[in-house]
Amino acid sequence: MQTKHNLIQGDCLEELKNITEESIDLIFADPPYGLAKKKGLGWKYSKHITLEETWDIFSKDEFFDFNIKWITESMRVLKHGGSFWVCGSFHNIYQLGFILQHLDFKINNSVVWFKPNAQPNITCRMFTESCEHLIWAVKNHSKTKWTFNYQDTKNKIEDQLNPRGKQTRNVWSIPLTPKKEKWAGEHPTQKPIELLRRIILASSKEKDLILDPFVGSGTTSVVAKMLNRNSIGIEKENKYLAIAKKRLSQSNLI
Ligand SMILES: C[S@@+](CC[C@H](N)C(=O)[O-])C[C@H]1O[C@@H](n2cnc3c(N)ncnc32)[C@H](O)[C@@H]1O
Repeated sequence: MQTKHNLIQGDCLEELKNITEESIDLIFADPPYGLAKKKGLGWKYSKHITLEETWDIFSKDEFFDFNIKWITESMRVLKHGGSFWVCGSFHNIYQLGFILQHLDFKINNSVVWFKPNAQPNITCRMFTESCEHLIWAVKNHSKTKWTFNYQDTKNKIEDQLNPRGKQTRNVWSIPLTPKKEKWAGEHPTQKPIELLRRIILASSKEKDLILDPFVGSGTTSVVAKMLNRNSIGIEKENKYLAIAKKRLSQSNLI
């Protein structure tokens, strides 16, 4: 039977309320970082602007309130034993981790995604940012077992830090999203297929239902389809949803 992939245009704070309680097997979220400035996050010594998306602009209090709300709703829709993955930079990951602990999620791992081809630091006043952070947590109140496909992680995940056939470490070396995955249009923070492939392969089963409340260019949905899982993706901006739809409609799924 073919899997189903539902892309919803809207604000996840509203759209999550329409999802049935305890119906989701795995959530992957790549939420706003809260780092954009009204005039863009500029570089002191150059005209380059890295992020000036309106969806990323919050006051401190608004940002905390927003994170509490979408994570609480995510917990409601997640099955017992379901996995919750969240990806972020140092700007938001500590707050997200704090909220997960506060809401009684069980944290299984933090994973460092090392980017071997990250941009240099042009200020020369700090270390070069070359990673993002992931937290893998589970809804564990009823002690239901979570999915961990141990043999797949050993045999189907490989990089310069993780030899095939060995236990996979929690540091993953994955290059920035390659150009060939951006054929359907520009999204400023499109995640590489390989990152989602590892997450979905390791912590869900075929035919499971996967939810991404900030689906952007649709990477989560594309990989869910590739790995024979069902998916729901929510995205506020029509221009990004159009990219996600285009990617999902392709048969080679890149
Ligand atoms: C960091 S990006 C996610 C990128 C995605 N992982 C990908 O591979 O393309 C965050 C996305 O969330 C969307 N967004 C921000 N706030 C939202 C909200 N309240 N509800 C739904 N989508 C939202 C933004 O438009 C943006 O596309």
